[in-house]
Amino acid sequence: MRVLVTRRWPAEVERALQNRFEVVLNAADRPLGQAELAQAMGEFDVLCPTVSDRIDAGVIGGGDRVRLIANYGVGFDHIDLAAAKAKGIAVSNTPGVLTDATADIAMTLLLMAARRAGEGERELRDGRWTGWRPTHLIGSALKGKVLGLVGMGRIAIATARRARHGFGMRIAYYGRHECDPAVAQELEAEFHPTLYDLLAAADFVSLHVPGGAETANLMDATAFAEMKPGSYLINTARGGIVDHAALADALDRGHLAGAGLDVYPHEPAVPGALLGLENVVLLPHLGSANAETRVAMGLKALANVEAFARGEPLPDRIA
Ligand code: DGY
Repeated sequence: MRVLVTRRWPAEVERALQNRFEVVLNAADRPLGQAELAQAMGEFDVLCPTVSDRIDAGVIGGGDRVRLIANYGVGFDHIDLAAAKAKGIAVSNTPGVLTDATADIAMTLLLMAARRAGEGERELRDGRWTGWRPTHLIGSALKGKVLGLVGMGRIAIATARRARHGFGMRIAYYGRHECDPAVAQELEAEFHPTLYDLLAAADFVSLHVPGGAETANLMDATAFAEMKPGSYLINTARGGIVDHAALADALDRGHLAGAGLDVYPHEPAVPGALLGLENVVLLPHLGSANAETRVAMGLKALANVEAFARGEPLPDRIA
């Protein structure tokens, strides 16, 4: 079985794949263009893309050999599932293993934004720090503040646990359904039936819904107007959920005190209006970037390729 891996994976996972299949790796780690991805559809049995590859209908229509797209990553808004389904191509992802790493980054952003860590580091490195004083770079405490989670899936719950048990925050959430009562009880989490209800109640809002057409620009100018004056936005989910011009405006006017972002609509481009603002923390999509997690993601993708090769049901089939 011929397998194409579009970007470098942790070496031990690449070796494990090579031990089992005929694998073409991307030694230079160069992003493949749409034409190369389309051509691969006719030359490989399995395509292993990652979240930065755009597997659209044009790519999927590029050839008839690929039968499995085993994505390295949990998000799949970069894959046209309808086009894959129409061609009978199975699609899998890597859920579960990046929950803690992503929740850690959500808390990193929350703390950095609340305590103005990015501003402070820039000031110090630029030689502008003039010394300790009672009014210098004053941020916000976390204890007793309301963390409002938009979506209450695995990563949201892991973030809420850190915020509640580690930092004494109060937890509120909005989702399509109320969460497991045992989780709600553990976190003393308050359910809000609408997004705007939640936005009006939260001191910090953290986004945990999938990307795609349904959630595009969910956080627009109207949503920001609903947020409390002096509140914060954290996004570790997908860039397309946020209207970044509206966010920049809310930050610039001081309606929002700060924001922390790990994801952007057209990565690696970062919306220009944000780059000049001091009160936004900007990370380069680091949510799952720790060694243990990246290996676990690779092993999960491998488990799906192996199940496919054996003709067994895929452990993480999404289409
Ligand atoms: C994913 O897997 O979808 C993440 O965004 C990668 O960190």
